[in-house]
Amino acid sequence: MTRWLVTGAGGLLGREVVARLGAVGLVRAELDVTSDSAVRSAFDAHRPDVVVNCAAWTNVDTAETHPAEASLVNAEGPRVLASASAEVGARLLHISTDYVFAGSADSPYSEADPTGPVNHYGRTKLAGEHAVLAHGGTVVRTAWLFSADGANFVTAMIQQEREREYLDVVADKRGQPTWTRDVVDHLSAAADYGPGVVHLTNAGDATRHEQAQEVFRLLGKDPERVRPISSSDTPDRAPRPTYTVLANHRLPPLPHWREALRAVVYSLGV
Ligand SMILES: NC(=O)c1ccc[n+]([C@@H]2O[C@H](COP(=O)([O-])OP(=O)(O)OC[C@H]3O[C@@H](n4cnc5c(N)ncnc54)[C@H](OP(=O)(O)O)[C@@H]3O)[C@@H](O)[C@H]2O)c1
Repeated sequence: MTRWLVTGAGGLLGREVVARLGAVGLVRAELDVTSDSAVRSAFDAHRPDVVVNCAAWTNVDTAETHPAEASLVNAEGPRVLASASAEVGARLLHISTDYVFAGSADSPYSEADPTGPVNHYGRTKLAGEHAVLAHGGTVVRTAWLFSADGANFVTAMIQQEREREYLDVVADKRGQPTWTRDVVDHLSAAADYGPGVVHLTNAGDATRHEQAQEVFRLLGKDPERVRPISSSDTPDRAPRPTYTVLANHRLPPLPHWREALRAVVYSLGV
């Protein structure tokens, strides 16, 4: 039996890993991934075969205003985990993001394509990737996560549908809505892949506007209530890459995001 250990286990993805894989999950109060001594004693206590690092500073906008804090969690944390994992012979699966790419492409980014983040969040995540790869770990890039549980874009759209007649949603950025469950179901394959970069996103791509319209459709509501806006209509936000569709050349394919979204909306019984 593989012993899985999850850091950042209180977050959106971490909770799903714990629930689906029967992993030992350590929330931030139990393990701060930036503390070398805390990481080493957690590894001593739990003797993991595979460590899944879900701990991160994930707020793209506040990463711009708190650059040092974001770097600590997203770059130093993975370095500490990667070095400790290499020492004890555990496989580290470090979760990363489509935001390491510049977003200026017009066809999907493959695992080996050059990176070029456009915001501080992306830069800190890329630094974390480099530290993990230097220690022989596995970087698992995913994107636009949603789940039936907790705060995320899909649960927010369901809530907004109840509260508002019209909704304005950005329609000029393209990525891949991805169900946390589909990512978790491919983590064993990622661990088997070994050192390097893998991409785990649902098949297909969308704008946030298209995704929100699909939520409305699945709820049996009029999708025209979701109106397209441009990123320039939200000037206070940190810059985001325009196109971050990821090609998966290394692992079995994940289902289409529309199929995943249907399963989530139906599971909520709304
Ligand atoms: N959500 C997305 O759409 C998305 C897209 C692409 C990639 N990703 C990547 O997927 C991974 C998981 O994201 P998520 O959506 O599950 O994020 P999340 O819900 O924000 O969870 C991150 C967790 O990390 C914890 N954490 C922060 N600093 C920590 C530290 N120093 N030590 C230990 N834990 C710490 C947070 O705890 P507190 O809440 O107590 O701070 C939180 O529980 C991240 O690497 C993220 O970059 C996410």
